[in-house]
Amino acid sequence: MSDHFQIAIDGPVAAGKGTVSRLVAERLGFLYVDTGAMYRVTAYLALQNSIDLDDEAKLVELIKDSSIEMRNPNDDERDGRQTTVLLNGEDVSWKIRTEAVGSGASKVAMLKKVREELVKKQQQIAAKTNVVMEGRDITYRVLPDADVKIYLTAGEVVRAKRRHLQLQTRGSDVGFDEVYKELLLRDEQDMGRTHDPLKIVDGAWVVDTSDLSIDQVVNLIVAKVKVMQQNVHKH
Ligand code: DC
Repeated sequence: MSDHFQIAIDGPVAAGKGTVSRLVAERLGFLYVDTGAMYRVTAYLALQNSIDLDDEAKLVELIKDSSIEMRNPNDDERDGRQTTVLLNGEDVSWKIRTEAVGSGASKVAMLKKVREELVKKQQQIAAKTNVVMEGRDITYRVLPDADVKIYLTAGEVVRAKRRHLQLQTRGSDVGFDEVYKELLLRDEQDMGRTHDPLKIVDGAWVVDTSDLSIDQVVNLIVAKVKVMQQNVHKH
C-alpha cells in the first residue's frame, strides 16, 4: 500500500469523471490526474509527426522522448480547463481536446506497449502525492491498491447530451446524432479492447450520475473519504 491516499475513478466517456475528479481533488487538497490526457497527448504527437496511430514502436519512442507534465491550473490559466498539460514545455491543454485527438487517443490506447509506458508514468505521479486519478484502468491496473475505487457512469443518452453541450459551449456546431454515434463507438472501443478494457472491478463503488448534480456526486465522494480518513486516525 502507498503512503499516500489514492482515489481511483474509472468510467465511460462523458460520465463526468473530469469535473467530479477535479472538484473532489480541490476539496481534499489532492492532485487531480487526468490519465486520458496522456493518451490524448500520444495521439496528438502522432498526428503532429505524421506517425500512424497503430505504429506501436514509433509511438513508444515518441513518448519516451517527450516530457509530459500535468498539474492543477494556476491563477493565469483559469479558462475553463480542468487540468494543465505541458508537452515538452508547451501548453497543449486545449489542443488535445478536439474530437480528432480524442478519437486518435482511443486508437493508441489499444496498444499494449503504449499503455505500459503511460501506466508507469501514472504510477510515478501517484507515488509522490495524494491523488484523484481518473481513466479506464485505474481501479485495477494503475492503482490496484487504491483506498477508494469508483466506477462513475451515466446513461448513454445523458452522456451524449452532456458531451454535445460541452462541444457547443466550445463553439462547435456538431449535431447531437453525430455525438451520440461517436460516443457509442468510443464505448465499444474502450470496453471491447483486448488490453485493459474499461470494466467494473469487484468491490468498486458504482456511482450512476444520470440523476445527480455534480455537487451531489462530489459531496458523496468527499463525505466517504472524510469518514475513511477519520477511521484511519482512530486506529
Ligand atoms: O477520458 P478521455 O476521453 O480523455 O480519454 C481518451 C481516450 O483514452 C479514451 O478513448 C480511452 C483512453 N484511455 C484509456 O484507455 N485508459 C485510461 N486510463 C484513460 C483513457
